[in-house]
Amino acid sequence: MKFFALAATLLTASLALAAPSATSSAATPAGSQIRTDQDPVYHLYLQDIDGQPLLGPEASSGYFTISNTVQLNSATGGAPLFLNVNMTETTSYKSVSLDATATTTDWTMSGDTIVAGGQQNFVVCPISGSTNFDLFLQTGDDVPSSACTDWITIHLPCLC
Ligand SMILES: *[C@@H]1O[C@H](CO)[C@@H](O)[C@H](O)[C@H]1NC(C)=O
Repeated sequence: MKFFALAATLLTASLALAAPSATSSAATPAGSQIRTDQDPVYHLYLQDIDGQPLLGPEASSGYFTISNTVQLNSATGGAPLFLNVNMTETTSYKSVSLDATATTTDWTMSGDTIVAGGQQNFVVCPISGSTNFDLFLQTGDDVPSSACTDWITIHLPCLC
């Protein structure tokens, strides 16, 4: 009896330990993280926050497949989204968006640095009431506000 009681206790304990992983969020999708390595966005990670591509915590990082497009892979097996830059904007900082189709198809890598249309620098701007940052491709000297920081590059965490 004692043996069975112990076995039952161990089984219950192992089920209790196993339960959190069984109920945790969806599996990490394939692909690479994209992060920033400079202040004020040191080790923030590119991700979809309410439909916007923003720099935020690693725990909610997006995972991307990078070729001539930057594809955000779905954590739930849904359709991917594509990182696009609106080059028709007249300011030298250009908005980025996540869309169902890729309109920016001239992304390249330079080492571990992600480059769009030959531009590798971004302007990052704090978001009021949030620790996340907005980002814009930098093609000149304009910035959305004096709170923003330019000359920020975005990277793979490693070439691995
Ligand atoms: C791109 O920017 C232009 C100029 O501001 C705007 O008219 C257009 O709607 C934008 N395109 C997208 C897809 O947001």
